[in-house]
Amino acid sequence: MEYPVYLQLRGTENVYAVQGPDRFWECTRIGGQWLRQDVVCNTWPDRQRVLDMLEDGGPWEPISSQAFLGPWLEDATEDGQGAFKVKEHVDLAPWTTFGISAHARWFVQVTTMGALREAMAWAEEQKVPLLVLGGGSNMLLHGDVHALVVLVQLTGIEVLSDDGQHVEVAAGAGEGWHDFVMRTLDEGWGGLENLSLIPGSVGASPMQNIGAYGVEIQDRFAWLDAVRLSDGALQRFDAEQCDFGYRESVFKRGQKGLWVIVRVAFDLDRSSILRTGYGAIEAELQAIPKTQRTHRDVSDAVIRIRQSKLPDPKQIGNAGSFFKNPSVPAEVAQKLFLDHPNMPQYPLPDGRVKLAAGWMIDQAGWKGHKRDTHGVHDKQALVLVHFGGGTGLEIWQLAEDIMASVKQRFGIDLEPEVNQISIPRKGGTEA
Ligand code: EPU
Repeated sequence: MEYPVYLQLRGTENVYAVQGPDRFWECTRIGGQWLRQDVVCNTWPDRQRVLDMLEDGGPWEPISSQAFLGPWLEDATEDGQGAFKVKEHVDLAPWTTFGISAHARWFVQVTTMGALREAMAWAEEQKVPLLVLGGGSNMLLHGDVHALVVLVQLTGIEVLSDDGQHVEVAAGAGEGWHDFVMRTLDEGWGGLENLSLIPGSVGASPMQNIGAYGVEIQDRFAWLDAVRLSDGALQRFDAEQCDFGYRESVFKRGQKGLWVIVRVAFDLDRSSILRTGYGAIEAELQAIPKTQRTHRDVSDAVIRIRQSKLPDPKQIGNAGSFFKNPSVPAEVAQKLFLDHPNMPQYPLPDGRVKLAAGWMIDQAGWKGHKRDTHGVHDKQALVLVHFGGGTGLEIWQLAEDIMASVKQRFGIDLEPEVNQISIPRKGGTEA
């Protein structure tokens, strides 16, 4: 075969130049802009993609090199909205779901890849740290942030393949998670319904492998594209490279702070099995005969359950579960069970046992606990809430008090699920 082979995905504007069996250039339109990337296929799914592209009669059709080069070279100029413009001393309260007032020394909203790269270059030149903000739904700011805070607002939803049953769909990191889930359900694509109403953005969802009601993002994850902060290189990560765990990924561990996620793709399925086994979903769906239930019905049930237990961040500041559910060795769980026969315990495939942090916090007497500006949610003890006028450090103090109390009562160390952000100005007061 002679390379490059120029192709266009039927029914879309997306063009490709296959450079060899393990490399292709891809140019896809996302929102109002072109996203160009050089994909090196180190792993099987990407190699298979190349084979699929080259298959005769498949969804990719040959085009001329000129037809490829048009979009590939078209200048992705900023449209004014996406222009790179640094603001100073910006209050981040509106941009995080806790709604705590803390100021970014520098702040920029980016709506294009070009503006994102400019922001990265600016931070490098100025020698200041860079903090990426998506939906701001999983962070507690301990104080003012002496960094360039970059609000990633890359949008656009795009179908990459659709065989009538399975759909691969990619979304810009700045899309709101819940709106994206609603869009997939409007289109009849199943798989993400149990993850309805989770606050935050699409880009943040793989960071902590968001999960609820028996489903985690890793169950439907295809790949993500991320830009490396050190040199601006765009790289594709498959599920294995993301190394997902319970509320974990490589982006919270070894690669923490090194990448900006710009696009995430999901494998969805028009007739995927409904997952109703977890918690109260089955009870919520009782009125609908089993054979008539749809993905939308499951989503509606999840929304009702969440609304009954979890505070709406638009009304009361919060970041969902503040702590992770800890897992302990079976012997520890057994001992705890003898002392606390009502303690919920969930055996894990690896032999360990997951404990309900919310139950322990509740038992320790914290549910509904109120301090002046903040407290513990009265319907779910795992959620810390901010009523207004509080600081991140105050909330962190409450978290520490809760951790100490659970440790004392159950001998268990709780770990925060929410990212704790502290980037103070070194040596001195804020300039
Ligand atoms: N429980 C109490 N009191 C409480 C809270 C919980 O007794 O105040 C008990 C419940 O009765 C139940 C057990 O603890 O027996 C577990 O509670 P629940 O089913 O409400 O779930 P969770 O473990 O507290 C997790 C996720 C939630 C997710 C729900 C449903 C974590 C850290 N949290 O909560 O995720 O919505 O399961 O899948 O894994 C989030 O991450 O922000 C989040 C809300």
